[in-house]
Amino acid sequence: MKKIIIAIDGFSSTGKSTLAKQLAKQLGYVYVDTGAMYRAVAFFAMQHHYVSEDHLDKNKLVDSLPDLHLHFEFNPELGFAEMFLNGKNVETEIRTLEVSRLVSKVAEISEVRSKLVEQQQQMGKHKAIVMDGRDIGTVVFPNAELKIFMTASPETRAQRRYDELVEKGQRVTFQDVLQNVNERDYIDTHREDSPLVKASDAIEVDNSVLTKKEQFQLVLNLVNDKV
Ligand code: C5P
Repeated sequence: MKKIIIAIDGFSSTGKSTLAKQLAKQLGYVYVDTGAMYRAVAFFAMQHHYVSEDHLDKNKLVDSLPDLHLHFEFNPELGFAEMFLNGKNVETEIRTLEVSRLVSKVAEISEVRSKLVEQQQQMGKHKAIVMDGRDIGTVVFPNAELKIFMTASPETRAQRRYDELVEKGQRVTFQDVLQNVNERDYIDTHREDSPLVKASDAIEVDNSVLTKKEQFQLVLNLVNDKV
């Protein structure tokens, strides 16, 4: 069977990663969560105190990019790869609301984007990959064989993210999560470098109207048409 690249883009908490993980498992492909990479850079900036109050010192972050090394390691118990920053597993640290508040500011920086995009392109060199993010079908793999663009209402997405955070024991309010979802949408769609847009050849999937099973079947049919 032909190996392809599957690019899944869309707003935050539209269920991209759930779908991408299901597809990767079914097809025996590698799954790459590019949001985790941007989150790890945001966490790195926090660790190094490049953030004070609401201000991010972009110059200091850019200067220290050569010291930032990211890699994924597959965890067979979980069935997917976890994010490592400079050799340390940071899966828990990168999923906090604090990191969510900073990440879109980090993702606006062109130097950060070019470093991560290059690494993502390397990971897809041999195809057989499902990658999710904001710019996968437009910038990272403009020639991906299959491009999906996921949507859902902000309230549906905030509820999903809120449930996830509460389940992990984090103390957050629904209003704070909704506000963060809206702010990130705004920054992600308005930034100069690689804004979130639907690629002209992407297929839109609205996650608020389909069940997970229906959505998976629909996309799997699209994959089968390509391989
Ligand atoms: O996917 P997730 O919500 O974890 O992504 C976190 C943030 O990382 C996004 O809100 C966006 O600002 C940034 N991002 C990006 N490009 C990607 C993936 C994520 O700018 N390919």
